[in-house]
Amino acid sequence: MENEIKIFSPATVANVACGFDVLGFCLDTIGDEMVIRKTEEKGIRITKIEGYDLPFEAEKNVAGVSALAMYKDLKPDCGFEIEIYKKIKPGSGIGSSSASAAGSVFGMNALLGYPLDKTKLTYFAMKGEALASQCEHADNLAPAIFGGFTLVKSANPLQILELPTPSDLYATLIHPQIEIKTSESRAILPKEIPLSNAIAQWANVGSLVHALHTSDYDLIKDALNDVVIEPYRKQLIPHFDAVKNAALKAGALGCAISGSGPSIFMLSKGKAVAEAVEEAIKNVYSETAIAFETYVSKINTEGIQVL
Ligand code: HSE
Repeated sequence: MENEIKIFSPATVANVACGFDVLGFCLDTIGDEMVIRKTEEKGIRITKIEGYDLPFEAEKNVAGVSALAMYKDLKPDCGFEIEIYKKIKPGSGIGSSSASAAGSVFGMNALLGYPLDKTKLTYFAMKGEALASQCEHADNLAPAIFGGFTLVKSANPLQILELPTPSDLYATLIHPQIEIKTSESRAILPKEIPLSNAIAQWANVGSLVHALHTSDYDLIKDALNDVVIEPYRKQLIPHFDAVKNAALKAGALGCAISGSGPSIFMLSKGKAVAEAVEEAIKNVYSETAIAFETYVSKINTEGIQVL
């Protein structure tokens, strides 16, 4: 059995407009790399972090916390070293903490001969994710680990549904270079919502799930609407409405906040439209003083990949 594994741990988009805390999908072109190594010395050690300034103490690092949770449960006859080559900026809204939390447990599981299924890996990864967002949610972790679109049917007990990915669906993203902490963007949300908004939202979630199953792009367009969270969070993201208007005008099926922001995602039918959308949103942000990055990505149906 191998003693070392190198993986690509992808960025992800949580919520997918209408599915706050339950829906997510996996990106293809953005992600971290990690090396996980078996050691004779017991315990979990983070030995290298490149890209961003993050804690080396396992108990303070999301990759370390998820690794420790799994390690304490499995009690393997070895230890592990983790190297993190961080490419996803923390606080970007595209699952930076999830990529780390999922990557460590995925790598350890592979080195131990895959004793755990993907749901159990997600369960341990949630312990690391909770360190970053102060709450256990799996809507970034599940698509990172399973790939494609996922729906968290229940967090306790953890139940994850894999949804189909229409083959011509592409994501466009803009990441304004400001940081929004998930904990802070959760704190501004109302604890209760009007029944009429709840009805609209669950109708959209059901419709989106149906649309993914039937590759119905018109219905995807209709369903990509968030009447519950976006009205509150969009104030945290400069020029959100201008980006959304430009994206829809350029042909995007929908546009919404990626996770807790500040990134904004769009879904489009076909790469050409996704690229036209990218141009349109670049034009919006080029007029501002805020630095930004944009990406076009196919939906990654595989999730974390062994390199
Ligand atoms: N569903 C979570 C939120 C994702 O929107 O707060 C955070 O990455």
